[in-house]
Amino acid sequence: MASIRLENLVKSFGETVQAVRGVSLEIADGEFVVLVGPSGCGKTTTLHLIAGLERPTSGEVWIGAERVTDWEPGDRNLGMVFQSLALFPHMTVFDNIAFPLMIKKVPPAELGERVRGVATTLHVAHLLDKRPSTLSGGEAQRVALARTIVVKPAAFLMDEPLSSLDAKLRVEMRTELKRLHATLRATFVYVTHDQAEAMTMAHRIVVMDQGRVQQTGPPLAIYNEPANYFVAGFFGIPAMNFIDGELHQASGGSVFQAPALRLALTRSGPSAGGPATLGVRPEHVRLSDGAEGWPAAVSLIEPLGDETLVFLDYGGGTSLVAKASAEDRLAVGDRRRFTLRTDKLVFFASSDGRRIA
Ligand SMILES: Nc1ncnc2c1ncn2[C@@H]1O[C@H](COP(=O)(O)OP(=O)(O)O)[C@@H](O)[C@H]1O
Ligand SMILES: [Mg+2]
Repeated sequence: MASIRLENLVKSFGETVQAVRGVSLEIADGEFVVLVGPSGCGKTTTLHLIAGLERPTSGEVWIGAERVTDWEPGDRNLGMVFQSLALFPHMTVFDNIAFPLMIKKVPPAELGERVRGVATTLHVAHLLDKRPSTLSGGEAQRVALARTIVVKPAAFLMDEPLSSLDAKLRVEMRTELKRLHATLRATFVYVTHDQAEAMTMAHRIVVMDQGRVQQTGPPLAIYNEPANYFVAGFFGIPAMNFIDGELHQASGGSVFQAPALRLALTRSGPSAGGPATLGVRPEHVRLSDGAEGWPAAVSLIEPLGDETLVFLDYGGGTSLVAKASAEDRLAVGDRRRFTLRTDKLVFFASSDGRRIA
């Protein structure tokens, strides 16, 4: 078991590519941390720097009390799971899992016990005599995990391990990985571009963009209190609605003025003025029954079964997406009024995208 500390890590490739631009991060022993961000933001490179597969241009990596920046990968005692599994096709599942123990010359009795132990934990004990080619995607992924776990690494590094699985299996494996973490109580550093994986699995999410950490925090804090425009737009399905406008300070509080939308914010309004973007999640756009709110036309409906996505044209240029009850009988062309949950609105400065308090 081990904590991991990254100190101002920078990694450049050649003259032009700065993959990681100063990442500092403390991961506690036993924590499940998910690095999430769009493709190319530097997640894999960060993981490779922890693993020792890449050396940083500058900065340091600590595992527990050891400064491991210049250590070989094999000396770091980390378990790695990647998207491509690299199981040995000519070996049985048992031998695949046992392989790292054979290299370490673990005595046969102990080896057998440890292989059967992890195989039971990962529900592959009944597959030990099979060859990898006869396994389903989920089974193969579990065998790869078992092979990593069997050496009892100090921490686990996982790079998009579920991305080659189909959607249903991915959701199941998400739950299993969470259970596995609860059983092992080991440090997990998990990389994904999938915000839903990050939200559902992480103790703490680290959001990256363009080689930098944008925000760190528990899933709901990231969702409810995004630090900036990027984080706000990255989380949530469908994405948060954004409306460009201008904040003014008035006598009774602040006022947000956008095309076809004027919003008086009495208590909870932001304190600054100037060009700003209003962010409102689809679940906080409410269709009203009475005369309250702004008028809009329903331009598109997407039923999800449990609820319905409603696209509202209110004259502001782009349409607003609202989550409505599946029971609400709506049709394209309907004219409805909508309100916004003012206690849930967030504002971002147009200049740098930061959230305005
Ligand atoms: N070995 C390499 N040589 C040159 N550029 C690289 C190398 N590895 C990664 N990059 C670049 O660094 C950036 C970050 O890549 P990566 O860490 O793989 O992102 P992610 O895993 O978030 O998709 C990308 O622009 C990528 O093209
Ligand atoms: Mg990657």
